[in-house]
Amino acid sequence: MTAQVRAESFWMDSTESTAYPPLERDVTVDVAVVGGGITGLCTAWELAQTGRSVIVLEADRIAAGVTGYTTAKLSALHTQIYSQITSSFGAGAARSYAESQQNAIEHVAHTAANLGIDCQLERCPSFTYVQHEDGVDMIRDEVAAARAAGLRASLVTETGLPFSVAAAVRVEDQAQFHPRRYLLGLAEASTANSVAIYERTRVTDLDEGAPHELTTESGARVRAGTVVVATHYPVFDRALLFTRLIPTRALVVAASIPAAQDPGGTYITAEDNTRSVRTAPYGDGQRLLIVTGEQFTPGQGEVRRLFEVLTSWTTGRFPDAQVRYQWAAQDNSTTDNLPYVGPLHAGADNVYVATGYGGWGMSNGVMAALLLTGLVTGDRLPWTDLYDPRRLHPITEAGPLLEAQAKTVKHFIGDRLRTSHVDSVDDITPGTGAVLRVAGQRCAVYRDEGGVAHAVSATCTHLGCIVAFNDAERAWECPCHGSRFSVDGAVLHGPATEPLEAHDLPTRTGSA
Ligand code: FES
Repeated sequence: MTAQVRAESFWMDSTESTAYPPLERDVTVDVAVVGGGITGLCTAWELAQTGRSVIVLEADRIAAGVTGYTTAKLSALHTQIYSQITSSFGAGAARSYAESQQNAIEHVAHTAANLGIDCQLERCPSFTYVQHEDGVDMIRDEVAAARAAGLRASLVTETGLPFSVAAAVRVEDQAQFHPRRYLLGLAEASTANSVAIYERTRVTDLDEGAPHELTTESGARVRAGTVVVATHYPVFDRALLFTRLIPTRALVVAASIPAAQDPGGTYITAEDNTRSVRTAPYGDGQRLLIVTGEQFTPGQGEVRRLFEVLTSWTTGRFPDAQVRYQWAAQDNSTTDNLPYVGPLHAGADNVYVATGYGGWGMSNGVMAALLLTGLVTGDRLPWTDLYDPRRLHPITEAGPLLEAQAKTVKHFIGDRLRTSHVDSVDDITPGTGAVLRVAGQRCAVYRDEGGVAHAVSATCTHLGCIVAFNDAERAWECPCHGSRFSVDGAVLHGPATEPLEAHDLPTRTGSA
């Protein structure tokens, strides 16, 4: 019998939802953290330990945005990051990176044990593998760079995967966990320790001063000596970081497998448009196999088809797999492959940002929390400069920066010229969407399963690119910087902060 597949993240489905209140009155605190994902919640916890009053302002629900849809590997081995950093910035930078990431992993293990949070943290090795012989030299280089950076890395040709590999980097002392179990536990411990968490509290403005003042959608204001912007894509982007961030969406398929078939580690390969594998506890005699891959630029994927490709890869290699869940994750890479963690802009005084985790949000989110805590307390960590967002490496970044900008310009102009794949609203079938001109306006129109058409402006409220329909997740996505909107236009993911404007459809419709 085929199992029913839930279009939801396992982390969300296996934990209770939260119900912290919205902020309804003005408050003054030492630190205001904007965003309740892994970075925001960990930063709030760390700063509360220093005796500061801390408030967390989350636009929706905590640990339910990007953090609720991660694969939740706690690994310092990020595909082939050590050879990249070594060749771009030298062995010292690679060592700092390794230390900061491993430190974050140990910190989670230590905090979970101290607070008694049952987050299913499991220690295991991490692997980067290749199946093709022409990737073996890359693996050799990565082993050498990771070892030089201080990790317990070795080259292996045998792994726990049910297929052969040409070679793999194996790094000991890594981990995997249940991110929401950890963060909901941390949130509970934080509120017992003078952190105030407010949900459904969208921050709409930041007035930098002494103190800084944040305005929320409800009108309530927060005065704070320090502000941390931890909203994944920074909602206040005063250093124009969006020009140096490249959004990527990846699909996740989770399937139950017999526990005896657990590959015993976390795995990733850059081959086949990326395949990442880990497992999690899933009842008696079972494990949940979590496979991530088929990366695409938001708004640019035939997502239903890509889910089929990933599912078939999973069941082809794990024949006993019963697919239970499918969901998608989004993250931003930076033009030099290092996250931006530190001052929000060149002149910022006690306003900080953390973003650009390149798909490694768990170790980077915790690393960022510890780094920012050090900046606030004056106890700087040794790797602080490595992640400073004010850095610019013209030679390393020129190529990716120009490529990202060219892509944006191409979408900004090209998507305006593109003709719709339907002639009129009447041609849009239930459950699908299309961008087309209606009464002279460029509209994004979705027809629901009941046959009702919903029209919103197709112009992204961030910088005006044209959105495209994600057919599997039923959302409008912007290919320029990754904003996402519901079919009714509400913001699902920034950098956009304003919804797509709703449009009325005339009784008779057609394209122009
Ligand atoms: Fe920047 Fe849409 S996300 S224009």
